[in-house]
Amino acid sequence: MASFERHLFICTNQREPGSARGCCSPDGKDELQKLFKDAIGAAGLKATVRANKSGCLDQCEHGPTVVVYPEGVWYGFVQPEDVAEIVGEHITHGRPVERLRLSESCVNTASCLHKPRLQ
Ligand code: FES
Repeated sequence: MASFERHLFICTNQREPGSARGCCSPDGKDELQKLFKDAIGAAGLKATVRANKSGCLDQCEHGPTVVVYPEGVWYGFVQPEDVAEIVGEHITHGRPVERLRLSESCVNTASCLHKPRLQ
């Protein structure tokens, strides 16, 4: 079996309402992961692309958060209506969706414009 060409991790972490950091799946329904899985299947990429549920990716302030490997492209504030564009552009054609991409200055940093509590 050939190895996977891309792997998506979709944060489905749920926290108690009112949590200071928020979370990526407040209703616990994991809708985004299911939408990605379905869109990848519909694009005929099921054999080469995986869309997995993930625990907290420690980018909670940017959630819902999705990361795509091997490129290491981070997406933030992903909504259900964004799934088709990410799969159609990035996953199918290798063109990351810049409007949803998190800045390098936001990923794995103690503070950024989305983390005002930590500045
Ligand atoms: S809850 Fe999704 S990155 Fe932390």
